Amino acid sequence: MENILEVKNVFKSFEGKEVHRGVSFTLQEGETLGLLGPSGTGKSVLLRSLIGLDIIDEGEIFYRGKRIDLLSEKQFCQIRTKISYSFQNGALFDSISVFENVAYPLFEHTQLKELEVEKRVMEILEVVNMADARDLKPSDLSGGMQKRVGLARSMALQPDILLYDEPTAGLDPINVEMVLEVMKKFKAQGFSGVFVTHDIPAALKICDRVVILKQGKVGFSGTISEFEKSTDPFVQSFLTGL
Ligand SMILES: Nc1ncnc2c1ncn2[C@@H]1O[C@H](COP(=O)(O)OP(=O)(O)OP(=O)(O)O)[C@@H](O)[C@H]1O
Ligand SMILES: [Mg+2]
Repeated sequence: MENILEVKNVFKSFEGKEVHRGVSFTLQEGETLGLLGPSGTGKSVLLRSLIGLDIIDEGEIFYRGKRIDLLSEKQFCQIRTKISYSFQNGALFDSISVFENVAYPLFEHTQLKELEVEKRVMEILEVVNMADARDLKPSDLSGGMQKRVGLARSMALQPDILLYDEPTAGLDPINVEMVLEVMKKFKAQGFSGVFVTHDIPAALKICDRVVILKQGKVGFSGTISEFEKSTDPFVQSFLTGL
């Protein structure tokens, strides 16, 4: 299995406050990695660093063996078509339709003709079960539906890696299941993912491995079964939701 992403000894501080103090992990092609940790341990900052929205102070980040943490903003724009960050709130444009929201990155970054865009957008909207809502505006949708459209938009450019920042937060159980179904479909199609969540049952359902951040470092890293069997009190506190 190829390491599609490698994070090596990353350090990051904000105004003297240390967030990451030597974080390392890898993501293998096709797997979904759960990135867990108490609130404020820098999960979102780490995802943002992978696409150049935050800049690390020290360490290295490799995408398919190529170092990316030193890239310019312009070069990171290219990386963002390959590594897609799905924002917690979906970050949809309110004034345009569901269809136009998903089509937007395609018009922006590809030379696809209108008919090809239409075909691609409708295929993705089918995957997230939102094809019937194509002409609605985001404000007409429930939170769960908006999340699914956000996921559809982050898939539009057929990236290599999807970064999910708490995609199920704030959703009722039915919508949580729907979002997880979408993630499972993406995984079945061979996409790699990093799944940041506080929802342990969801992580157990979707992830192959988990990494838990603890005080700026990796406090645990292992497969789902190692995670479930761990006797480490810190790991167990996650499993029991304490
Ligand atoms: N732009 C910024 N300027 C200053 N501090 C920041 C900035 N971005 C993040 N931080 C700080 O970095 C720390 C890590 O934040 P981050 O949002 O990554 O945590 P998190 O693990 O995602 O937490 P949560 O589970 O609550 O989402 C926090 O203390 C936060 O206040
Ligand atoms: Mg966060």
